[in-house]
Amino acid sequence: MPIVTWRDEYNVNVAVIDSQHQRMLELVNNLHTAVEARIKKDDLKDMLVELVEFTRMHFSTEEQLMKEHGYPGLGQHHKEHRELLRYLTDLVDGVSIGINLGFYADYDVSTDWALIHICELDKSLGIFLNSKGVY
Ligand SMILES: [Fe+2]
Ligand SMILES: [Fe+2]
Repeated sequence: MPIVTWRDEYNVNVAVIDSQHQRMLELVNNLHTAVEARIKKDDLKDMLVELVEFTRMHFSTEEQLMKEHGYPGLGQHHKEHRELLRYLTDLVDGVSIGINLGFYADYDVSTDWALIHICELDKSLGIFLNSKGVY
């Protein structure tokens, strides 16, 4: 599976968001490597849980900024966050009970989804925050 490298175009121009996105990408890449190395199910689960926890923290950082600055797209963005988190936690549950078959395909979808989310939704949020003087 491909390792995703950070590109300038992923930047949303808000320091705290960009550094968290870079860390998320790092966690995703570590997962790619671990999956390729066929690590044990429990270790895989631990890594997924770490990604879920970090993602949860990241989403609350963004949502806090949205509330503070009155972002009009909060409702839609929050909904996408919830869906993405649900997806990731389902993946963790699947791995926990030993559903490995669909994991690889699902896993790819989830990482793609994260990138699409960054590129589309978070970009608009970044533009809005920049207009409020937040960088
Ligand atoms: Fe984000
Ligand atoms: Fe977001």
